[in-house]
Amino acid sequence: MRLRTRAGLGAVATGIATTLLTATASAAPAAGASGVGDPYYPYAGNGGYDVSHYDIRLTYQPATDLLSGTTTILAKATQDLSSFDLDFGLHVNSVLVNNVPATFHADPNENGELVVTPGKALNKNQSLTVVVNYADTPSKVVIDGYTAWKKTPDGALAVDEPQNSQWWFPANDHPTDKATYDVSVEVPDNVSALSNGTLVRTTKQRPGWTRWNWRSTQPQATYLTTLEVGAFEVNQSTTPDGKPFITAYDPAAGESLDAAKASVERTPEIDAFLATQFGPYPFEAQGGVVSTGLNFALEAQTRPVYGAAFFRSGSNTSVIAHENTHQWFGDAVSLGRWSDIWLNEGFASYAEYLWSGHEGEGTPAELAQYVYDSHPANDALWQVLPGDPGAANQFDDAVYDRGALTLQALRTEVGDDAFFTILRTWVAQHKGGDARIQQFIALAEQISGKPLQDLFTTWLFTKGKPAIGPNGASTF
Ligand code: ARG
Ligand code: ZN
Repeated sequence: MRLRTRAGLGAVATGIATTLLTATASAAPAAGASGVGDPYYPYAGNGGYDVSHYDIRLTYQPATDLLSGTTTILAKATQDLSSFDLDFGLHVNSVLVNNVPATFHADPNENGELVVTPGKALNKNQSLTVVVNYADTPSKVVIDGYTAWKKTPDGALAVDEPQNSQWWFPANDHPTDKATYDVSVEVPDNVSALSNGTLVRTTKQRPGWTRWNWRSTQPQATYLTTLEVGAFEVNQSTTPDGKPFITAYDPAAGESLDAAKASVERTPEIDAFLATQFGPYPFEAQGGVVSTGLNFALEAQTRPVYGAAFFRSGSNTSVIAHENTHQWFGDAVSLGRWSDIWLNEGFASYAEYLWSGHEGEGTPAELAQYVYDSHPANDALWQVLPGDPGAANQFDDAVYDRGALTLQALRTEVGDDAFFTILRTWVAQHKGGDARIQQFIALAEQISGKPLQDLFTTWLFTKGKPAIGPNGASTF
């Protein structure tokens, strides 16, 4: 970009500028970028390094909301680095990079950038061990004008999208840098600490406290890494195919508690159904956490978190199907950019239709038709573009509902065989990594052998209610 601007100054100036830039690039290591270049969230993630593992070892006291401990990050430099950023908002006591003290400072703009300058510059491809020691009260920490950490009467929840890690561990906070995790949290004996993956063990090392050690062995995005502390009822069993199945219920759910259990306890059955649609379940464990401390649900990897209100009027397996579909679409295959959110929410919403069909409560075509018919042409649903909704509309109904209709339109166009081959191939090709909408369109065209740009342009990237059915028939 800068080079092109300078080229406009003329041949002589260009020559000089190029020489200077080349000399700079080879001689001096540069600061890592403060973001990965995501247009919706300029400070999300960082440049210059790639994380392979987080080891998070904390103590949490619900009475005071004091969170303290150490996160150790294993990473690799992807360029020569004079400094690099971590995304983190809590108060830091010390940072070591490869066992040498580093200097550090928080960006004063409260954007969650922690700038770390190692004692010695880092070389491209060098292995990094970054040890960050910290202590703070996360509920008082404001980043970009808000607080994602949710204090509850008996604990706290680290559950939010697109960001929650900055309130409890330092990270490269963007879905394009996934890693494995060990999450170890010591809490008072009267509460539990839930996180992702497998409960390796609980240990006691001092009176009144228990340490919960969780492990996630598949690449996991930062926002899908979760912590719930509270007086949960915790149940541990095994799925029919032998995976740990761990669920937790907030007793404060009261009258909704049984409906919550009648839904979440069916997760292995629902995942088995989803596997018939999308291919094998991608992770080593399953589960779910129900809490009164949030009013949405999040597809935390291996262990979604549900607001208790989802179960207010009885069982709700639709939301279980939704969050578990994200295990394939969102968790195994992650977003390349947050603007690609349709790849998560459109697919998880469509899977609610698939599950309904399986349960005999209406076929996907019927449900899609109902949503289509109940939103007249002047409805706001048709004014938001699911393929690029903007950060403010990232979780707008259009992304979910119009997004699901997009998949029904695709299915109608290419037929069932091609449709499910596209979904399964997509997961098989990208699981463990990230991908973008245009790649999905290309795959759909390749598998179906049909040109589909127009269909996707209409459904994802054009305002207005799309026409459906041949010759204006208006049916899917
Ligand atoms: N991915 C979640 C879902 O499946 C949505 C999370 C919305 N985030 C929020 N802070 N409300 O529905
Ligand atoms: Zn969703």
